[in-house]
Amino acid sequence: MTERLEANDAGIARAAALLRAGGLVAFGTETVYGLGADATSDVAVARIFAAKERPRFNPLISHFPDAESAFAEAAPDELARRLAERFWPGPLTLVLPRRPGCTISDLAAAGLPSVAVRVPRGAVTTALLRAVGRPVAAPSANLSGKVSPSDAYHVLRGLSGRIDAVLDSGPCPVGVESTVLDLTGDSPVLLRPGGVTVEALAEICGPVSHPDDYADTLPAAPGRLASHYAPGLTVRLDATEVAPDEALLAFGPALPGGGLTWNLSPEGHLDEAASRLFAGLRFLDSEGARRGLARIAAMPIPRTGLGLAIRDRLRRAASPRPG
Ligand code: TXA
Ligand code: MG
Repeated sequence: MTERLEANDAGIARAAALLRAGGLVAFGTETVYGLGADATSDVAVARIFAAKERPRFNPLISHFPDAESAFAEAAPDELARRLAERFWPGPLTLVLPRRPGCTISDLAAAGLPSVAVRVPRGAVTTALLRAVGRPVAAPSANLSGKVSPSDAYHVLRGLSGRIDAVLDSGPCPVGVESTVLDLTGDSPVLLRPGGVTVEALAEICGPVSHPDDYADTLPAAPGRLASHYAPGLTVRLDATEVAPDEALLAFGPALPGGGLTWNLSPEGHLDEAASRLFAGLRFLDSEGARRGLARIAAMPIPRTGLGLAIRDRLRRAASPRPG
């Protein structure tokens, strides 16, 4: 049985107690819903991998209520401190060296000498993390390889019966996962574009190199599985026309001739588009399959701001998948 908990004091207390006891609790963040477990417990973390059917070589992000608790586990340099100051709480994950005595389980870090830490934004999320009082490991709360959940209903569709509870704090305002920045080398490396834009990072870091999106030349970082966020229908990128057997994922004025359509943002706002992306992929996928359509045609998305994260998720959705 999976409990649905209200985002009030009692619900937060119940969620925290389940997590402290080694349970699995999905919770909302500003980006997507995370599937949480006590990051200091190998047993609890192992349950995340089992519930998601996630490959164990893919490390997890640990979540904290504030920078101080994050930096008790991970060693920040000067740049990490400035980034935390500017963007936390918010959708930025920093990959940093472990501190001696770091309590994050080796399983959560997939045996790497680094850890990924993040301080999410949102009063309910922060209250939950504070009540747990330990790092909380949380990948997106979906079956591995499926579309990430941006509301509690999506979580239950995929994981009901596999997890102890979901703390329902409503839809996630940002809608795409956090930006992952690796600070363990000589210069910062963007491992995943996300809710903090590269333009915003550049104000603190200077220009950040990032993968040439859609070109499939991403660095071999953990988690870079070829197929990810995969809906059942195939996805065709940068569509400039739409075929009769295609559903349309529109951005701005929709292409003519489209039947089944989800418009990410009729007026072309990238923040609105990001917040509607995963719900749109789910909708077109299920309704498109019901109508016997073959593909989702995705209109071009600009390479600026949150467009980079949207393009990254679409590229993954479009990449060939096993079986
Ligand atoms: O917005 C988010 O980040 C969401 C919410 C729930 O917080 N979480 C999330 O987690 O997207 P997940 O597990 O789906 O993505 C974690 C990413 C993966 O690409 C993983 O490879 C990378 O972070 N990562 C984690 N630890 C790492 C490490 N030590 N070195 C390099 N990459 C790491
Ligand atoms: Mg994920």
